[in-house]
Amino acid sequence: MEPKPLPFKELEGISNKTLEIHHDKLYVGYVKKSDEISERLIALRKSGNFEGNATFSELRGLKDSETFAANGVYLHERYFDNLGGDGEWKKAPELSKVLEKKWGSMEDGLKWFSACAMAARGWSVLAWDTKAGKIKHYNCDAHNQGGVWGCIPIIVLDVYEHAYFIDFGSDRKSYIEAFWKNFNWAEAEKLYKKASLVSL
Ligand SMILES: [Fe+2]
Repeated sequence: MEPKPLPFKELEGISNKTLEIHHDKLYVGYVKKSDEISERLIALRKSGNFEGNATFSELRGLKDSETFAANGVYLHERYFDNLGGDGEWKKAPELSKVLEKKWGSMEDGLKWFSACAMAARGWSVLAWDTKAGKIKHYNCDAHNQGGVWGCIPIIVLDVYEHAYFIDFGSDRKSYIEAFWKNFNWAEAEKLYKKASLVSL
């Protein structure tokens, strides 16, 4: 896998230092580990010398790490691709119409989303749920815990401390406000239009 570059030069309120650590070190690290795990799994399978033990085995360790690393890549890519905008949700006419219907108003909806993000230990995600055929909001506490299969993430908010501690200390609320200020609604609209065509 090739790491994706940031789709913007800088953000408002979220420093370049944070982005350097978050994107260039952490995210790129997940990409590298993802490749390494894939190579190790292929080598293990080809060796014929593997044991599927759920208490402890090399195979268990690799399979557990595989989903952690892959979701670490995918969730971060969506998170960074969400940013670099001006926070103007009118740039997402179709998506905001759906969200207004779901939550009453965009203001109330973003307030609710932000409260959910305060209640998460890892990620807060608005997704197109291909089974339900509608937009759903889910939280997850780790990359590979809490995700719902069959969902296409549209808005991904990283609430791990590494995303904000340098800039905001323990003030996660202000970080979430900065996230919405930098949110790229035009990008979210494009993704929503593509994702909502999928029905399973
Ligand atoms: Fe992160």
